[in-house]
Amino acid sequence: MKVLTWIPATPEDAVPLAALFRHAEAIAPVGLDQHAEIVRTRLAGLGPDLARHTRVGLDGQGAVAAYAEVADMGVADGVLRIRLTGVAHPELAGDGRAELHRWLVDQAEQLRRAGGPTQAAVLGTRCAENDSTGFRLLTENGFTLVRHERDLVLTVPELPPTVGLPPGLALEPVDERYQELARLAHNEAYAQSPAAVRPDQRTWPQHAIAHPQFLPDLSCLLLAEEDQDENPVAAFLFALTDDDADEPTAILHCLGTRPSWRRQGLATAMILRAVHRARSSGFRRLRLQVSDTNQPALALYRRIGFTESGRGYAVLMRQLAGPTAE
Ligand SMILES: CC(C)(COP(=O)(O)OP(=O)(O)OC[C@H]1O[C@@H](n2cnc3c(N)ncnc32)[C@H](O)[C@@H]1OP(=O)(O)O)[C@@H](O)C(=O)NCCC(=O)NCCS
Repeated sequence: MKVLTWIPATPEDAVPLAALFRHAEAIAPVGLDQHAEIVRTRLAGLGPDLARHTRVGLDGQGAVAAYAEVADMGVADGVLRIRLTGVAHPELAGDGRAELHRWLVDQAEQLRRAGGPTQAAVLGTRCAENDSTGFRLLTENGFTLVRHERDLVLTVPELPPTVGLPPGLALEPVDERYQELARLAHNEAYAQSPAAVRPDQRTWPQHAIAHPQFLPDLSCLLLAEEDQDENPVAAFLFALTDDDADEPTAILHCLGTRPSWRRQGLATAMILRAVHRARSSGFRRLRLQVSDTNQPALALYRRIGFTESGRGYAVLMRQLAGPTAE
């Protein structure tokens, strides 16, 4: 199979793209969305960036064989973060993958330049743990391994344990009234996590309650009656349904405790609430992803009983040649 033509993606490509992603995920998982509806929503959300930042590769028969996307993840500490996604049909020859990679880096360079002549940038991309060819291609092109994302699972027990909360705190369903305070709590909790996305007001709903797979039953906020900073949201958990799983599975998509509330059992209480609700809602399994550099979270999940599924992936990064090198 050889890629002959590249065209910008459109939301109408969602069905064949989701099929490509499912195929790729079955062989070399990196956590791609596999449902056409979710892919369509994502592509539609890129708006005018679709034409500049995406490419669909068509083979000789006009079938979708590859996909490339350059995503602007915002500027943190003066450095523009750019996420590269390259998906190739497993039968795509090595030169096709190299071509895909060159396009991604070229587009990322254009994105960096659009930020001004002195804009520094870092590229990030994922590689399946079993994809040695992809890993070699990336390292030969200046990428280095920065971390592994672990995929952890928990079989929902028949009799989940219960846990108490410190006084003055209440577990509440996610409520739109706390939308902005939950966003601020999220960004505060993740302030020291270099890889985390810190959504602005525009992108926050998509990250949480407007996510197409949002699962309100298992999601919650932990509200404090009194808080010195006047933000009652001490901790939060957003859960999603896992539409790709072979048994009913919920995903713990995003959870955190604001620094001043840590080590008091808040995250444990939210997760155990989710475990109880998972059992009564018919879910058999919970899953989540966590970076192997996030020791507090790994310790938390292991203590609750999560174990590795083996579907993790590696994250690699590369600095883009800065202005001094030009
Ligand atoms: C990870 C995080 C959610 C933990 O929240 P928390 O409310 O402090 O967690 P808990 O109090 O329920 O901790 C339960 C257990 O987890 C482990 N744990 C939690 N934080 C830890 C830390 N900093 N170091 C070592 N172990 C830790 C401990 O075993 C702890 O029990 P102990 O306090 O009795 O020793 C919080 O540190 C956080 O918000 N981090 C930033 C966001 C993040 O990484 N989210 C997870 C993404 S996958």
